[in-house]
Amino acid sequence: MATVLAIETSCDETAVAVVRKRHILSHLVASQVAQHRPYGGVVPEIASRQHVEAINSLVAQALEQSKSSWTHIDGIAVTCAPGLVGALLVGLTVAKTLAMLHDKPLIGIHHLEGHIYASCLENPDLQPPFLCLLVSGGHTSLIEVKDHGCYTTLGQTRDDAVGEAFDKVARLLDLGYPGGPAIDQLAQTGNPDAFRLPEGKISLPGGGFHPYDSSFSGLKTAVLRLVEKLRETEPILPTADLAASFQRTVAKALTQRTIACALDRGLRTIVVGGGVAANSGLRQQLQQAAQKQGLQVLFPPISLCTDNAAMIGCAGAEHLERAHTSKLTLGAQSRMAI
Ligand code: KG4
Ligand code: ZN
Repeated sequence: MATVLAIETSCDETAVAVVRKRHILSHLVASQVAQHRPYGGVVPEIASRQHVEAINSLVAQALEQSKSSWTHIDGIAVTCAPGLVGALLVGLTVAKTLAMLHDKPLIGIHHLEGHIYASCLENPDLQPPFLCLLVSGGHTSLIEVKDHGCYTTLGQTRDDAVGEAFDKVARLLDLGYPGGPAIDQLAQTGNPDAFRLPEGKISLPGGGFHPYDSSFSGLKTAVLRLVEKLRETEPILPTADLAASFQRTVAKALTQRTIACALDRGLRTIVVGGGVAANSGLRQQLQQAAQKQGLQVLFPPISLCTDNAAMIGCAGAEHLERAHTSKLTLGAQSRMAI
């Protein structure tokens, strides 16, 4: 069973983990949220600098906590795309240096592939085929996983990613950064039926709607218009009702499209990944709808929904077992299809 040291630096978390195939031996995340909060979003230059400052000590700690030495490590997995190039380069440079120094194979991993594999860490017997709903700050995709490393994107967002919509709506409601967890928390105390919002359907030229694609920028604009109108009449903005209505709408839209896709493709298991997989409204609605259809739905534990290196290590171990390794000339790419 392959033991992999994994590094993830694609955005604003510096993460290092050691995994033995699907078993976590150590898993560390240094969050940069406090550094980016004053700017209301991720500042790429700050992200790169923070990664540089944190990474070496995280590698040492991850090895120590896993009770492994370099002789136990079979390969080094690293996120190489997509993400902030400056941030990715920090992880890649460290991974390549360690690979050379300790004579270990390097395994470049697509960040989304990591999110797909996060659920395998809790469900070691999980095998394709399954459908993955990938919902993060940068992506909203329905991906059919036919086999290990064999992915077909069946649905995606035409504009904003769902996590981006959470962050933008949170900013509109003055809930701070990052917005997703803040909306989730506030929504617990609000009425989800208070406001009707558009579900982000994509019209087709011949009539009807695209079954799996979404648009979330219209939903965000609808919240903006609603907030402007409410401000004219309400002394206090009903932020909890707005958060709950927004969250309910997003969860409903994603649930309908995901269930339809799974049924159409004959896939009995749905795996959810990415930061928005932590959302309690989505978890509840998708779980209920899947149960009604006799489908299995798997969510990673909250700590593995957002960016981490354990998921990169898990994907890396699958590749290493198939001898899918990368050259030391591997580069960082800001955009790359899975
Ligand atoms: O996967 P991730 O950590 O980074 C990317 O690859 O983008 O996802 C980050 C996104 C952010 O937009 C954040 O607001 C959102 O995930 N998020 C949530 C929740 N926790 C994180 N969105 C809704 N509800 C949550 N509980
Ligand atoms: Zn991510």
